Amino acid sequence: MNIGIITAEGYDYPPTKRLAKVAAEKGHRIIIVDPIYVWPVLVSGSPDLEGELDISMLDVVLPRQGATVNDSSLKLVPHLHHMGVPLVNKLDAIRLAKDQFLTLQALSSVQIPIPDTGFINAYEGFQSVLDRLGGYPVVIKPVSGRVGEGVFLVNDDHKARLILHNNLETGKGILIQRFIPPENRLDIRVLVIGGKVAGAMKLKPKPGDFRSNFHLTQKSWPVELLPEWEEIALKAADALGLEIAGVDLIVDADGKVRVIELNYSPGFSGLEAATGLDIAGRIIDYVVETYG
Ligand SMILES: Nc1ncnc2c1ncn2[C@@H]1O[C@H](COP(=O)(O)OP(=O)(O)O)[C@@H](O)[C@H]1O
Ligand SMILES: [Mg+2]
Repeated sequence: MNIGIITAEGYDYPPTKRLAKVAAEKGHRIIIVDPIYVWPVLVSGSPDLEGELDISMLDVVLPRQGATVNDSSLKLVPHLHHMGVPLVNKLDAIRLAKDQFLTLQALSSVQIPIPDTGFINAYEGFQSVLDRLGGYPVVIKPVSGRVGEGVFLVNDDHKARLILHNNLETGKGILIQRFIPPENRLDIRVLVIGGKVAGAMKLKPKPGDFRSNFHLTQKSWPVELLPEWEEIALKAADALGLEIAGVDLIVDADGKVRVIELNYSPGFSGLEAATGLDIAGRIIDYVVETYG
């Protein structure tokens, strides 16, 4: 099979390189769909592509574009879909996963536990939302975050005002969320592939931080999932419609589990390192079995 990957990072980007190697071992080929060099056009009412890609070669496409090109490359996703190329994941699911508040709404609507959270798009809403969450401390975070950037612990009005002032101008709004202290907390990333748990790892913030993103720490550990956690992770991926999902869970000091966010193009080097599992192989196998 020819498996396209939407990425602006080229073949040498580690997860792409690893997927390409594993695909080749299984007799398949990875083809880069680079949104910098592939341009969707609508001519005479039909979707077509200009640039460096022969679409007839593609059997399926994995949208794995990162922040480099961000939302702009989302244009390629429905375009490829309308041109008849199957996608893993699909546009509707990606849209939800890219927006943390839309994600939390979708999870909450099917009774999946999440942290108490409010959304504001102007400073006017801050005090009411803060009061409703029970006051400081809160976490203030962007709607479309990545690798923990822009996620702040806020303890007072001064810091809140500064962060809101710097961020509300973007017009994207911002999330205000109940803080779950890192002491005796368990942060877990569960990788769901095709409605099954492919693996899970434990993450820990660095001392003095509360964010456990693998990008920030480069450390990961194996973890045994309780059946309840597994069920919640699967239900969360299903609620968003993600076939491949990195589901982030936090278990607080009282043992209560909540879903923080879902990633539609999860990295897997930390998970492979922690568990020894062949996650790249699982992804390729799923894609080939489902779309081959
Ligand atoms: N409400 C919260 N309370 C405590 N820690 C949090 C909370 N929300 C997020 N974190 C920590 O910060 C990290 C980054 O937050 P997240 O919302 O996942 O943003 P990003 O999309 O940038 O990864 C999480 O992995 C978690 O460790
Ligand atoms: Mg995260």
